[in-house]
Amino acid sequence: MSKKDYKRYLVTAALPYANGPVHIGHLAGCYLPADVYVRYLRATGKDVLFICGSDEHGVPITIKAKKEGITPQQVVDKYDGIMKNAFKDFGIDFSYYGRTSSETHKKTAQDFFRNLYDKGVFKEEITQQYYDEEAKQFLADRYITGTCPRCGNPGAYGDQCEKCGTALSPTDLINPKSALSGAVPVLRETKNWFLPMGDIQQSDMFKEYIKRFEFWKSNIKGQCNSWLTEGLQSRAMTRDLDWGVPVPIEGADGKVLYVWFDAPIGYISATKEAMLARGSSTSWQDWWKDEETSLIHFIGKDNIVFHAIIFPMMLMTHGEFILPSNVPANEFLNLEGDKISTSRNWAVWLHEYLIDFADRQDELRYVLTSIAPETKDSEFTWKDYQTRVNSELVSIFGNFVNRVLVLCDKYYQGIVPVSNGVLSDDKLQAAQAVCFKQVKESIANLEANLESIKLRDAQAEFINIARAGNKYLADTEPWKLIKTDAESVQVILVDALQICAKLCVAAQPFLPHTAQKLAAMLNLQSLSWNLLQENVIITAMHALGKAEILYKQVEDEDINKQLQRLEDIKKANSVQPVVSAVNELKPHISYEDFDKLDLRVGKVIAAVKVPKADKLLNLTVDLGFEQRTILSGIAEYYQPEELLGKLVTVVANLAPRKIRGIESQGMLLMAGNDFGKLYSVGPEQDIEPGSIVK
Ligand code: 2FM
Ligand code: ZN
Repeated sequence: MSKKDYKRYLVTAALPYANGPVHIGHLAGCYLPADVYVRYLRATGKDVLFICGSDEHGVPITIKAKKEGITPQQVVDKYDGIMKNAFKDFGIDFSYYGRTSSETHKKTAQDFFRNLYDKGVFKEEITQQYYDEEAKQFLADRYITGTCPRCGNPGAYGDQCEKCGTALSPTDLINPKSALSGAVPVLRETKNWFLPMGDIQQSDMFKEYIKRFEFWKSNIKGQCNSWLTEGLQSRAMTRDLDWGVPVPIEGADGKVLYVWFDAPIGYISATKEAMLARGSSTSWQDWWKDEETSLIHFIGKDNIVFHAIIFPMMLMTHGEFILPSNVPANEFLNLEGDKISTSRNWAVWLHEYLIDFADRQDELRYVLTSIAPETKDSEFTWKDYQTRVNSELVSIFGNFVNRVLVLCDKYYQGIVPVSNGVLSDDKLQAAQAVCFKQVKESIANLEANLESIKLRDAQAEFINIARAGNKYLADTEPWKLIKTDAESVQVILVDALQICAKLCVAAQPFLPHTAQKLAAMLNLQSLSWNLLQENVIITAMHALGKAEILYKQVEDEDINKQLQRLEDIKKANSVQPVVSAVNELKPHISYEDFDKLDLRVGKVIAAVKVPKADKLLNLTVDLGFEQRTILSGIAEYYQPEELLGKLVTVVANLAPRKIRGIESQGMLLMAGNDFGKLYSVGPEQDIEPGSIVK
């Protein structure tokens, strides 16, 4: 984002599908960073609107309904409330939380579609789409699964691979399978309306828009540039489904808007509802149509293409709307060495956390910001949670505040003494100077990092302020000095109180519950961000409140209980996949079908990572009679050097395919367990490369 100062800030957090409870991955990926940033903007006095809501359409909802044996409406009614409460419990302070099943949303999305339709933006096309003959319906988006052509993830969806973030069409999937019946789908003709993304990509307005990528985080820039280099394809904005916003034009009976067309418009409809609740039916336009508004979308990496490319294309072809000034996307958070997964229950659920750690929301916020996956995937472990809470929140921040308040209570009965600011000897003065310098530097860094949405670094600077305060006390030892130099103790403790007040102000974005508690302990009325620049926030004779412990130690038994829970889940999971793999055998094929495959033994003679693609390795494979370049989505499971000299099985007559601009001339056979881990399949004995596998 450029350093331009905007008149107002419209911050959105991805509308979560209303199909399940919220876990730490959701929080760390998008809601917590958005909330931290919004709280910072609010503290600085900016005009901010923070919008979110439930995404209630799309296949994730109907699949859940089928699983639970209830209607899609019942699903969204159930989870909308659960999610909203979970966010509230953790202090995610939306200005407004909407629902895409609302009437306002239906009208807004339909008007938007009609506007583009009337302008002739869409291409009407009859295409072949996958159809499930058993379930008797078209298989859009998540109704179909298969292998991602880009990274090899066997659980990719028809609209997207969540592993590598690629936006897909069902026909891109390798080995497509109906998520409804498990059947292999057939192709059938149907009419849909397509957004011609390839054409829009060539337009001047789009070329102008993408100049702003320059100021965005490298993970977003990288993904977007790689799609743009490959060239964008038209994408259907309508679906043959019965759950969603009906397509508002003639000849579209039985069709609904693509969920990724309607969902981002949910930000607009929620803004309308928010403004209506404030009594204005027009002011939503200030937020969406005035260039003085900065529009910032916080999302997870699987949503990048939709927010950085598709939605902006919709907005720019409509013509009346501003475009995002930033799309800060986070990568994924893993849990104890494995990908967070709702279906495998491999998650820390927010509602469950609160049962075991009641009133300790800020501790989780703190840890999740400390390890935020801002530039790459990161890892939550309970041991690390314990260490960070105990050695940073308890021992540094909590301990500093507590020492200062207890000493002020003991020496001055909670009434702030007079300080002339001057210490009696060189050693004390040096300690004071070091402390002031460190606090000043940390505040400057804290602000710079918040401005550029580097929240992990910003929070680290917050702790550095407390660290400087602790060091000041350790260097000057007021508890000893009180016997010989009471005047200097007054100076030290008044200095320390100013640092406590600054910590209270600076804690607001990260630790909102603590900031409130500390404000009561310090008896502070205002927590305006400007106070960070003041030398004196708490003046003489000010009456302090009652000192309380800010954080409790996390004990080994607290952590062991959580680890045991995960261990139990792992055990339960380890039996299930075998059953499901057996159950999901594909239908018979004829020998002729099998015989079409030309499988050969190959030897890996070179292997390198593909730049900017976490999952891909570029392999050179010797087939005896020739060498091939093969891209394989196994970078997570193999180091390149491990593969050198390895014998593998190659599908040698698979049509070449361009991946990331490189032509892949075949495919390696891999055995994948249900958790997505891949193992290469090769001959047991050393055998000549090129040998036929049959
Ligand atoms: O990935 C998801 O959970 C989507 N429901 C996010 C939608 S964001 C926006 F476009 F509404
Ligand atoms: Zn993929």
